[in-house]
Amino acid sequence: MSSTILVTGGAGYIGSHAVLSLKEKGYQVVILDNLVYGHRDLVEKQLKVELVVGDTCDASLLEQLFQTRDISAVMHFAAYAYVGESVENPAKYYHNNVVGTLTLLEAMQKAGVNKFVFSSTCATYGVPEIIPIPETHPQNPINPYGASKLMVERILKDFDTAYNLKSVIFRYFNAAGADPEGRTGEDHNPETHLIPLILLTALGKRKAIKIFGRDYPTRDGTCIRDYIHVTDLAQAHVLGLEYLLQGGNSEIFNLGNGNGFTVQEMIATAKAVTGKEFAVEDAQRRPGDPPTLIGSSDKAKQILGWTPQYDELNQILSHAWQWHQKRHG
Ligand SMILES: NC(=O)c1ccc[n+]([C@@H]2O[C@H](COP(=O)([O-])OP(=O)(O)OC[C@H]3O[C@@H](n4cnc5c(N)ncnc54)[C@H](O)[C@@H]3O)[C@@H](O)[C@H]2O)c1
Repeated sequence: MSSTILVTGGAGYIGSHAVLSLKEKGYQVVILDNLVYGHRDLVEKQLKVELVVGDTCDASLLEQLFQTRDISAVMHFAAYAYVGESVENPAKYYHNNVVGTLTLLEAMQKAGVNKFVFSSTCATYGVPEIIPIPETHPQNPINPYGASKLMVERILKDFDTAYNLKSVIFRYFNAAGADPEGRTGEDHNPETHLIPLILLTALGKRKAIKIFGRDYPTRDGTCIRDYIHVTDLAQAHVLGLEYLLQGGNSEIFNLGNGNGFTVQEMIATAKAVTGKEFAVEDAQRRPGDPPTLIGSSDKAKQILGWTPQYDELNQILSHAWQWHQKRHG
């Protein structure tokens, strides 16, 4: 197979796993990443594909990229994804996530590339009215990050109608875990995600793990979230890409585990997996945290034939722990 796939944000967490899955299926890959949060060492030592350091807002770089490579589709992971920061600095989020994506889509249109796989998010739903959340659930994002992704979803709908640009939109729940072979994993700075924060605490890099609220209407009072193994996410992206390459129409899919775990359960399982004791502190609820977020991924299973391989919490945490010890130990 000789198709080249452009992977924006491929030096980041989820994108780097998608690059590994694409390579395993024989695709050529070129990464575009501005390295604001991505890791050059991972691309050079583990992914071993071409890295173009640059920004999706740079129209002339994109034009040159499409002119000089035989690109058949784009997987677009590049975005900023800190919810709290998006509330404090919405301009940064609308610029990078909306203007950057629009610039990329315009470059694709000019180059005649019309297949696009997009990283959207469950944050576009806002506060859930139904659990598990189906793709048809109303979308009322409660922060600029979620709104920026919803705007791109709308742009994609209009680009399909007007320019025949076909897209697969994946709304992910919480990406978690790491490559089972330990080649890549989560390394955000600053880190805000629960599993890496727990594992950094287990490694002694942080003093304690905080539980924000123990009085939610859940089985143990702590928030329930849906954690999807990043390798399963990556595999869904390859299936979504192949669906488009085979002439599929634009579609939207949730990607989640379908099982929710409480914060308390995550901490208990992490203690068992790591064999470490660490401090846990109680803190106030955070505004905007719904008690339960669980997605239904039945549609991706039915239409794409997606079968998650690593849906056990133990596996997710073991792979993440293996990676964290290697990267941060
Ligand atoms: N991690 C999650 O749980 C989660 C959940 C839902 C959606 N998402 C979405 O998935 C995507 C990937 O998330 P991640 O956790 O891998 O994040 P990440 O920060 O690890 O990766 C994003 C990468 O994009 C790069 N980047 C950002 N803006 C860019 C730009 N304008 N031009 C070029 N490169 C740019 C960064 O340097 C980084 O390497 C994001 O779009 C995010 O919104 C993530």
